[in-house]
Amino acid sequence: MTFAGPNPPTLQALDHPPPGASIDPSLDLEEEIQRLKRTRNAVVLAHYYQDSEIQDLADFIGDSLQLAQEAKKTTADVILFAGVHFMAETAKILNPERIVVVPDMKAGCSLADGCPVDRYRAWRQKYPDAVGITYINCSAEVKAESDYICTSSNAEKIVRAIPEDKEILFAPDKNLGRYLVEKLGRPMRLWQGSCMVHETFSLKKIVGLRERHPDAKLISHPECEEPVLRLSDFIGSTTALLKFTIADPATKFIVATESGVVHQMRKASPHKEFIEGPPEGNCACNECPFMRLNTMEKIYLALRDLEPRLEMPEALRERARVPIERMLALS
Ligand code: 13P
Ligand code: SF4
Repeated sequence: MTFAGPNPPTLQALDHPPPGASIDPSLDLEEEIQRLKRTRNAVVLAHYYQDSEIQDLADFIGDSLQLAQEAKKTTADVILFAGVHFMAETAKILNPERIVVVPDMKAGCSLADGCPVDRYRAWRQKYPDAVGITYINCSAEVKAESDYICTSSNAEKIVRAIPEDKEILFAPDKNLGRYLVEKLGRPMRLWQGSCMVHETFSLKKIVGLRERHPDAKLISHPECEEPVLRLSDFIGSTTALLKFTIADPATKFIVATESGVVHQMRKASPHKEFIEGPPEGNCACNECPFMRLNTMEKIYLALRDLEPRLEMPEALRERARVPIERMLALS
């Protein structure tokens, strides 16, 4: 192909409409996203709480720990993170050479929002000799003030790694914290934060479901409240829950976590029955409103325009990286 003008258009200009251009309604979005993944050398990392169609186009689906591990090792030029902000931030912290794009910058998390760094710092200053273990659902600023990061799949291991004579400050999820205190018999000071989705499950409705389905096993995420956890047959991270449903001989499960994960459970065990954990009232509160901000349209635009992009000051990134690396070394 030859060009009449003095400067031939760049490959980018040939391949993609200008940033901000509206979406051509005739496009097959799934096909376009797959094409953009190739032309951008991009990888799509998705959490289980994404809509099914997003999970189906992802290159990798996992729990928070697996997603962080995958983000660290990818050699793709671009990471599109289909999850929430703190997850994309973790990807950037671990792999700063890559461009990290998110479908929607407003995809936050009630746990991260409930733990602002100034309050967290003040809490730590009250107990200067204590070790700070912080759940990965927090901002980069809070990570930078923490000694160790943990996820729901490795929290027990991280707590066990701290010498017995050390006091532990555990933030920001009080439900996961209380679960660990009871399971490990290890006292910890708990930040009083919670996940707005996992607190929504109705104990009364779950009890009713169990009566109607006595053969069903109740499986729960440790972000759920204590009465739900106490009734549960199995407690674990999203990946642990999925694996349990595959390995366990039961053929019916009540799933007390965000409903998105049920998509993978049904795919892995089509002959089994999965009942979504029932929320209080008639809302769709068992769907995370932050996770569900991501759509196919926004993913297409993020890959096309390479925006919005996750950036952070290098000094913050370096400080936040240390407790995450400590976690990964122990995982
Ligand atoms: P995991 O996938 O690590 O279990 O975390 C669940 C969660 O709430 C993520 O926001
Ligand atoms: Fe945060 Fe809860 Fe949503 Fe997970 S499900 S991102 S913990 S609000």
